Amino acid sequence: MKVLVVGGAGYIGSHTCVDLVENGYDIVVVDNFSNSKPEAIDHIKEIIGKDFPFYEVDACDTEALEEVFKKEKIDAVIHFAGYKAVGESVQKPLMYYHNNLLSTIVLCELMDKYDCKKIVFSSSATVYGKPDHLPITEDFPLSTTNPYGTTKLMIEQILKDLYTSDPTWSICVLRYFNPIGAHESGLIGEDPNGIPNNLMPYIVKVANKELKELGVFGDDYDTPDGTGVRDYIHVCDLAHGHSLALNKLEKEEGIYYYNLGTGNGYSVLDIVNAFQTVNGVDVPYVIKDRRPGDIAACYADPTKAYEELGFKAQYTLDDMCKSAWNYVTKNK
Ligand code: WQD
Repeated sequence: MKVLVVGGAGYIGSHTCVDLVENGYDIVVVDNFSNSKPEAIDHIKEIIGKDFPFYEVDACDTEALEEVFKKEKIDAVIHFAGYKAVGESVQKPLMYYHNNLLSTIVLCELMDKYDCKKIVFSSSATVYGKPDHLPITEDFPLSTTNPYGTTKLMIEQILKDLYTSDPTWSICVLRYFNPIGAHESGLIGEDPNGIPNNLMPYIVKVANKELKELGVFGDDYDTPDGTGVRDYIHVCDLAHGHSLALNKLEKEEGIYYYNLGTGNGYSVLDIVNAFQTVNGVDVPYVIKDRRPGDIAACYADPTKAYEELGFKAQYTLDDMCKSAWNYVTKNK
């Protein structure tokens, strides 16, 4: 089965490419490097020990993307391409709506034209907004508090309407919780440009002395230690969830929604302490005001993905922290 990985040079996309090939899939990758680097493609090839077709294409560019569908017989698509910084989306909503929605529409139109009707979509737990209780199951109410999250919710609606119009589509919507960590090789990992928005890449830069200290956004939440609680999941576990989703779409038409999380919630200070202990480094921090839009706690009930996909996170918090640091030390 040949899988088109749109955004395959990115953090989650590159790890998914590795898992797909290790699970017997053939891959074709497109990426425009707007939030990734060309060397990621070489590093994927080094890890899997084989070549694969790559096209530097903007997924919003119908003509360029159609050339890929003409050249490659695509059986299924995994769609990672999209801007994903919450704060930036508030400042630049039109850029987010244009890129994230148009790339999806262009992709689905070409899939329809070339009779390729199996897609796995990279959604996010952000579509659950501020849940009024935990853990989160897939039938929770959906709402969003920022343009980035709204693009994810809109794309879920586009895919739902597409399936309603043509039930021969096979669609899997994966709602990610908080992916962290890196492949054990240290060749691929999370490498955001500039000052990181997310917790783990910020911690890594503080430990690496690129940044002075971590600002902990609030310690007065209704959580065990007062700091924000999230469901951190190793990016390799998350990647494997995509292979399992494809396996289901090979056999079944329909539209399916799954949380990809561990079911465990860890606080900011849990992460800081685990990272320091497992890596033997210091992560100085100061308590700061809450970040606007943040919720106190968020973690998944992963039962449905386990029962229907056979998905179960294997890596521990220590594995996540160790691999995140290994990626930096291997690439210093
Ligand atoms: C985690 C915790 C912060 C940075 C976002 C998106 C979500 C997904 C993952 C794309 C929170 C705290 C963080 C820092 C801190 N992205 N924190 N100091 O906000 O849960 O989710 O990223 O799919 O869609 O919403 O992740 O890593 O930003 O924050 O104290 O410098 O760490 O307050 O409690 P978040 P995060």
